[in-house]
Parts: sequence; structure tokens; C-alpha cells
Amino acid sequence: MLHVVDHPLIKHKLTIMRKKETGPKEFRELLREITLLITYEATRHIEVYEIEVETPLEKTKGYYINDKDIVVIPILRAGLGMVDGILELLPNASVGHIGIYRDPETLRAVDYYFKTPKLHDKSEIFILDPMLATGVSAIDAIGKVKELGGKRITFISLIASPEGVKALEEAHPDVDIYTASLDRELNNHGYILPGLGDAGDRLYRTK
Ligand code: URA
Repeated sequence: MLHVVDHPLIKHKLTIMRKKETGPKEFRELLREITLLITYEATRHIEVYEIEVETPLEKTKGYYINDKDIVVIPILRAGLGMVDGILELLPNASVGHIGIYRDPETLRAVDYYFKTPKLHDKSEIFILDPMLATGVSAIDAIGKVKELGGKRITFISLIASPEGVKALEEAHPDVDIYTASLDRELNNHGYILPGLGDAGDRLYRTK
């Protein structure tokens, strides 16, 4: 299911990110901040367990999350720009990495790097990629995570295309998708319109 996180702060920050004049320092800071704000919504479903705490006045019931079961997996390379934002809220999460590119001839996903902590039934897995464009990388990454035993998977992006959302929902109907914006369409080169250009290039000034 798609969740577009609608909030004035997110709208404002995303607008600055879209502007072509915005440089890499501000772009990185805003991606971190928006990821943190989306994470607040994207973690609503995680389990809490009850504990007893002692305040200066008396004992009371409290609630903890089991953040050791949380696994954050950025898709390289633009997903790296989202890691700090999510870890600010989930500092004890484990972090895996997935490297995937789309072969320009076959148009299929090619994995070149895959390292995650051990996954089990209770792992709460958050896969990060700012641009959900064709959905090819996301579908492949989620498939691999499932093969390794991942069951509770949430996908977090910054901007999604209708085409990417449809493909991802068809391939993995059990995965919730969180995004700051559902944009209009993909162009012939697989870029999201209006989008913000190439997120990796803007993060790392590679163009
Ligand atoms: N990846 C990007 O960085 N931007 C797009 O618009 C699509 C895929």
C-alpha cells in the first residue's frame, strides 16, 4: 500500500530539493531531514513491549521498541543519503547495503553488492531509495531480502512515480511504500517528472 506523507515541512523541504540551483550540501541536509520526518510515519506499525520504569515519584508502565530487530538497507548509491536521517530516530538499527544497477541492454537488475545482517521473522526491515522510478531495483532488492528470510518489509522513498508504485505493488503487495511525493510520470530515460533529476549526482556532485 502506498502512503504519501503529507506535511507542510516535507512539502517545503522537498520544493527546495527540486530546485536545480540547490547545491549538494543543502540537498544532503534536506534528504536527511525529510527521511527523518517520513520515518516517524513509516514506523507507526512497529511493535512495542511493556516495561516498568521508576520515575522520581513512583513506578509506572513504559514502552520500548525493540530497535535491535530493526534493519535499515539503503540501495546504493543514492539510498546512502537517507541512512543518517533514519538512524537519528533508530540509532540501534543494523545497516545492510544493496548495490544494484539496471543493465541498459537487458533492462534487468544486476546486483553487484549485497550484505545484510541476519534476517529473521521479526526483523523490521526498511529499504531506502530516494527515487522509486521504474521499480526494477526496488523489486529486485525486496526479492533478495525475502529470499534471506525477511518478512516485515517497508520501502521508503522521497519521490515515487505512478509506474514504479504500480510495478512494486504488483510484485510485492505485502510491502508498504512510504514517500514524500507521488509525481506525474516517468520519461523515456526512466527519470521521474517533474522529479529532481538524478538524486545520486545531486548528492555527490558527479555531474
Ligand atoms: N533515479 C534518479 O536519481 N532520478 C530519477 O528521476 C529516476 C531515477
